[in-house]
Amino acid sequence: MKKRIEELEKEAKKLEPGLKERVNMTAKVMHYGQSFLEDLENKKAFVETDDKAAKILEHPLSEEPSDLKDILKLIENEVDTSGLNPASGRHLGYIPGGGIYPSALADFMAAVSNRYAGVFFSSPGAVRIENMCIRWMCDLIGYPESSGGNLSSGGSIANLTGLVAARDHSGIASKDFEKAVIYTTQQVHHCVIKAIRFAGLGDATIRTIEMDRRYRMKPELLNEQIEQDKKEGKQPLIIFASAGTTDLGAVDPLKEIAGIAEKQLIWLHVDAAYGGFFLLTEQGKNKMNGIEKADSVTIDPHKGLFLPYGSGALLVKDVQKLYDSQHMTANYLQDTLSATEELSPADLSPELSKHFRGLRMWLPLKLFGVSPFRAALNEKLELTNYFYSEVQKIEGIEVGPEPELSVMFFRYLPSDKNTGANEFNKKLVNALHKDGRVFLSSTNIDDTVYLRLAVLSFRTHLEDIDLTLELLKEKIADLEGNLP
Ligand SMILES: Cc1ncc(COP(=O)(O)O)c(C=O)c1O
Repeated sequence: MKKRIEELEKEAKKLEPGLKERVNMTAKVMHYGQSFLEDLENKKAFVETDDKAAKILEHPLSEEPSDLKDILKLIENEVDTSGLNPASGRHLGYIPGGGIYPSALADFMAAVSNRYAGVFFSSPGAVRIENMCIRWMCDLIGYPESSGGNLSSGGSIANLTGLVAARDHSGIASKDFEKAVIYTTQQVHHCVIKAIRFAGLGDATIRTIEMDRRYRMKPELLNEQIEQDKKEGKQPLIIFASAGTTDLGAVDPLKEIAGIAEKQLIWLHVDAAYGGFFLLTEQGKNKMNGIEKADSVTIDPHKGLFLPYGSGALLVKDVQKLYDSQHMTANYLQDTLSATEELSPADLSPELSKHFRGLRMWLPLKLFGVSPFRAALNEKLELTNYFYSEVQKIEGIEVGPEPELSVMFFRYLPSDKNTGANEFNKKLVNALHKDGRVFLSSTNIDDTVYLRLAVLSFRTHLEDIDLTLELLKEKIADLEGNLP
């Protein structure tokens, strides 16, 4: 038996490379990472390939080991050269992700030590760091001491967890879920609709309240609808307001909506996944006045704090409500109950074993201080305003509402009136994608195709916006020339 164990140990120990090998591996990976960053300027924001990285399938996982050099080559050729390049400052579509470098180092450290950040007992230091990040964000919102929350994988899970907290706090019985009413607008992020289904509320009524010309919820109509629903014996459950919609960065009138929520005794959740960190700027603070009155808020560090993907947050004004919704224990965890100085992430979310994701947020904030983050966010606001005014100088361009934050939409009206504008703008975005030097996405608002510009990468600067304007002119001219 011992012999068998020794044989197994010999093979298993390959999982623990020695110092020399570790240093060697790390050097190769570091070299790859540094080359990637150094070459970023020359890389496209979007690359369309014919086989869509299918060659990776020719290298299946197997019993056999592979050489790290070959593996890195595969990643370079098949992963890091096709599709969207979110690390590029010319990624101006969807909501650009971040990827500040110290977060990668923090992820490395978190993975090496593999501190278990789910329960205070297991890693008091790690949990304190996560809770410090939560406290910092609660202060940013303007929440009281009673607030708290959880670092999630992203905005979708934060919105879901917030909804479940609201549902549980309301005390609604599952047999009455079909009587529940959820209030939002047609511009709410679609993850909220998914969350409603996940929360078992698929039979509830979703009221999409009419919006004003700038795509913001009309509070007076919200109030009327709630009154009407109450009269009809329905159970108003939650209002989902947005602080920065994905399509155009619209901020609902939070102060008025919060007043209604308070009067009508309905939970108010604000999805500030995209817009939330603009609270670091004066413009953002003014736009989001009233957010501090919301019962819960979603805010995504992997958006406005420029962290790599995998960092969202749910903040709840009275954290006890989140705790009541999520806390559960098990016999095998009884030893952990002795440490109670801090709330544990596992008591505030559906996750138990989790990545120590607080380190990738805390480390860059400690290292740089808050000031460069604020400057970068102000820069994004200014760049969007700059684009908004410059793009209108291109003949034939029609813009949407003035940007509230750093997202806006526009379209081109072709000179030949017989050419459909929707068709033309689809071709325009496709031409930009084919070129790939900048990436813009398109959207559909009221059956009209628009191009969207979303400025949120910490790497987007004036020259990237100027290049975007140049490329737009170039592609429009090409397409105009190609008209039948
Ligand atoms: C306003 C808003 N809410 C929620 C989400 C979903 O967040 P995540 O992709 O982090 O799950 C997004 C994503 O773009 C968003 O823009």
